Amino acid sequence: MEVVVAPVAELARLAADAVQRLLTARPEAVLGLATGSSPLAVYDELARRHAEEGLTFARARAFMLDEYVGLPADHPERYRNVIERDLVSRVDLAPGAVHGPDGLAADLAGACASYERAIADAGGVDLQLLGIGTDGHVAFNEPGSSLASRTRIKTLTRQTREDNARFFGDDLDAVPTHCLTQGLATILSARHLVLLAQGRHKAEAVHQLVEGPVSAMWPATVLQMHPHVTVLVDEPAASRL
Ligand code: GLP
Repeated sequence: MEVVVAPVAELARLAADAVQRLLTARPEAVLGLATGSSPLAVYDELARRHAEEGLTFARARAFMLDEYVGLPADHPERYRNVIERDLVSRVDLAPGAVHGPDGLAADLAGACASYERAIADAGGVDLQLLGIGTDGHVAFNEPGSSLASRTRIKTLTRQTREDNARFFGDDLDAVPTHCLTQGLATILSARHLVLLAQGRHKAEAVHQLVEGPVSAMWPATVLQMHPHVTVLVDEPAASRL
């Protein structure tokens, strides 16, 4: 695990460099996209390089980490719409090349199984961007998640719903209670994991991720088992290392 502590703009450049190197070597690469505030500066940097330097995503494919269950198709906080806004609409990723778990499927378990198959059929994820929750969750793998888990339906913890209420007008009741999420084993099967964290509120989670014992109670610690992980954190997030 490589840990880099730097200002946010520098972290964004480092993550964008990794994406750019991959796309240069393999234009048809498979990207793993995260939602949330952590990767936003990376998406800004990728959009800038696309507009100003000709970085192209035209042949790339992408898989999202997770999705809320039951949000209407046009809901602004549906992760499929969030990633459209934050990245897809700003680069030349073909809309049909971006995949996410279907939180509106009548058969949610079936949607999870077919999502796993789609990732495998694409040859797996080459580079997975990740954030981390204050309780150490990655994607929506909350504390207690099996370290061997695959894409499945999960119940969101109150902590995560409170953390995400800011996206729902600070109305906790408006935050969905369930989600579909890639499992920890799904995430570990990506070839390179790039995790971003900013802010003092992430310091305990980053401490556990880097220095804690591997435990389902801090799901991100399973990344210690992966051979190629880059952790990009700012000074406040690194303050407990
Ligand atoms: C959310 C998402 C995660 C994200 C994390 C941190 O609930 N499901 O994918 O990494 O929590 O969010 P943020 O980056 O906004 O702090």
